[in-house]
Amino acid sequence: MTMLVTGSAGFIGSHLVDALLARGSTVVGTDNLVRGRRENLSAALVNERFSFIEAELGDPQHVPAALAALGPFDMVWHMAANSDIAAGVEDDGIDFRDTFQTTRTALALAKTTGARGFVFASTSAVYGELDETLSETTGPLLPISNYGAMKLAAEAAISAAAETFLDAAWIMRFPNVIGSRATHGVIYDFCSKLLADREVLTVLGNGTQQKPYLHVAELIEAMLFIVDATAETPGRHLYNIGPQDSGVTVAEIAAAVIEQAGGGARIAYTGGDRGWVGDVPRFAYSTRKLANLGWSPKLSSHDAMQRAVAECCQERGL
Ligand SMILES: NC(=O)c1ccc[n+]([C@@H]2O[C@H](COP(=O)([O-])OP(=O)(O)OC[C@H]3O[C@@H](n4cnc5c(N)ncnc54)[C@H](O)[C@@H]3O)[C@@H](O)[C@H]2O)c1
Repeated sequence: MTMLVTGSAGFIGSHLVDALLARGSTVVGTDNLVRGRRENLSAALVNERFSFIEAELGDPQHVPAALAALGPFDMVWHMAANSDIAAGVEDDGIDFRDTFQTTRTALALAKTTGARGFVFASTSAVYGELDETLSETTGPLLPISNYGAMKLAAEAAISAAAETFLDAAWIMRFPNVIGSRATHGVIYDFCSKLLADREVLTVLGNGTQQKPYLHVAELIEAMLFIVDATAETPGRHLYNIGPQDSGVTVAEIAAAVIEQAGGGARIAYTGGDRGWVGDVPRFAYSTRKLANLGWSPKLSSHDAMQRAVAECCQERGL
């Protein structure tokens, strides 16, 4: 199988590349390297079944010819997006370009290269702020961030493509994903702040924000499991992926990072029930559909968090 992975130099994309190569696939990775890092692909770049093309995917009128030339692809795994939700609050052009328009470019690449399958990294943010357990049948979907809005629009575009040129489309809604090579996120931010100031860790909100966390190793395992288990079934496949618990609080994460870094810092909360406008302070996922298919994570949110904190502190030299 020949796979195209967009956002391949990012956190999740680079782990996905490694996993696809380990399964024997030929992989073409692409990224504009704005947030992604070439170092994330250090293992892949020495594999003869991997090629990397640095390209901007935010303009569907200009689909990179160098990428199209490397097809035909069997499947496109579309991981590229804006991953800074707070940045998209100020400038809705960021999510339009990096999340929605990149999806149109990835779909155009799937179409021109004859790819039959398309996998999309979607998010809990499409649900908006709902006081109920979120399942794949929950609706109406009313996102509260531009990030969530453009992810939902991208889901719709992919759904339409499944009616025309794709045999199968997988829309996978991730919770908060954590682990090594992170380029952003709460653990990454806390590590950055402690590197700058070992005395005080400033935490956005009041620390009670509580969300489910999934380790990236288990996310990749789940993605591959879903595609393998449903590959023979054409059409649209929609799955929440996540742990089966209500998550951990930001205060617990802050304490874990401080402890891993050797202790001593005091926590200063900025106050309010959320980190930024558009942040959903708590949510709970139903992952029953995925469990019924046959996959469940082994790590709880707490265990995943502890593992990711250790990985991040080691990577960042804390
Ligand atoms: N990390 C999470 O907690 C989480 C949760 C839900 C969904 N997701 C989704 O998973 C995917 C991967 O996220 P991640 O955490 O690895 O983020 P990331 O920022 O590390 O990876 C995204 C990659 O896309 C690239 N990219 C962005 N815009 C681009 C453009 N216009 N052209 C070409 N490349 C571009 C970036 O350079 C980056 O390497 C994203 O679609 C994200 O929305 C992530």
